[in-house]
Amino acid sequence: MMPMSGELSLFLTLSGALGMVAVLLFNLVRRRGREEEAEKKRQRRRGREEEAEKNRQRRIGREEEAESKQERKIRQTVSADPWEINHSSIKLGTCLGEGFFGVVYQGLYNNTPVAVKTLRRGTMAPRDFLKEAQIMKTMEHPNLIQLLAVCTEEPIYIITELMKNGSLLDYLKVRVGRLHLNDQIEMAAQVASGMAYLEMKKYIHRDLAARNVLVGENNVYKVADFGLSRVLQAPPMLCNQTNLYYISVGKAIFPLRWTAPEAIANETFTIKCDVWSFGILLYEIMTFGKMPYPNMNDTQVKRMVPDGYRMPCPVDPYCSQDMYNIMLDCWKENKNDRPTFKTLKMSLRNVRG
Ligand SMILES: Nc1ncnc2c1ncn2[C@@H]1O[C@H](COP(=O)(O)OP(=O)(O)O)[C@@H](O)[C@H]1O
Ligand SMILES: [Mg+2]
Repeated sequence: MMPMSGELSLFLTLSGALGMVAVLLFNLVRRRGREEEAEKKRQRRRGREEEAEKNRQRRIGREEEAESKQERKIRQTVSADPWEINHSSIKLGTCLGEGFFGVVYQGLYNNTPVAVKTLRRGTMAPRDFLKEAQIMKTMEHPNLIQLLAVCTEEPIYIITELMKNGSLLDYLKVRVGRLHLNDQIEMAAQVASGMAYLEMKKYIHRDLAARNVLVGENNVYKVADFGLSRVLQAPPMLCNQTNLYYISVGKAIFPLRWTAPEAIANETFTIKCDVWSFGILLYEIMTFGKMPYPNMNDTQVKRMVPDGYRMPCPVDPYCSQDMYNIMLDCWKENKNDRPTFKTLKMSLRNVRG
């Protein structure tokens, strides 16, 4: 090989170095371009997220506004009016549904849409009812149906706030498989919240069940009909006759499948019986409104539950084991071993799928 002259080798070294610098510069420019592109993408995504967040905030604002308007209207209705009113103060509208004790209508009271529960004659003594209703009126909580007024002359009218989506039982039945565990936890947690308030006030519901939870707008769930069963009595024509939910024992009436065994045995109700019923309500929520103890008749329920029989974990639809463990806690034989509603509210926050 010919030895290279000094100039030539210098030239080659320089041009090699220049080439490398050019490649480096090219790569740098390309990388910067990619980074800028990625940054733009990030900004666009952030923009979209911010827009979505703003929309969410606007929606929450609108919902809160609508809710506070409705709450304000209800408050005005409560405070501006005498507590006992005449039938003539109420305009009855369409029928919303029918229960064991009477028909519920949509109505107008002081130009406010309300629900009017009418009770069949003989289902309760007006004087007992008035006493109970006076206590019921003082119960105020976002997860309890607000009682607005009563007509204590027969037919007895119970006027409450109107809940657009009707009973939780019907709501669940038309949504089989369409709700997620989170929705079900939300329902249960709101009910537990309303019940924790009653527990704090030392008031017993006695008829907690999905049929007695009502659904409003924006996924609001409220407990209804608290205290009513204390004053209800089996009308003569209903004695010795069983209904889908209620059985009569002497003069009293029990929702058999929702009632704790000790309450049926000695006719004494405590908040711990409500906790038992809450466990059954969880079963209704997780099964989209199935009748508790399916495939068992009333006689079998009355005999087997006090003997220790408990419903198994629902499999179809699937029920989370965490949720089932809460049900079992509510159905502990010794009522003092059952959780409080305050604890239930917290346990529900930790439920996993
Ligand atoms: N405040 C209310 N707002 C809207 N619908 C109601 C209200 N109260 C009751 N209803 C409807 O009327 C039906 C009958 O209610 P109710 O007399 O309490 O009987 P039950 O508890 O046996 O279902 C409910 O299932 C529900 O659809
Ligand atoms: Mg009811």
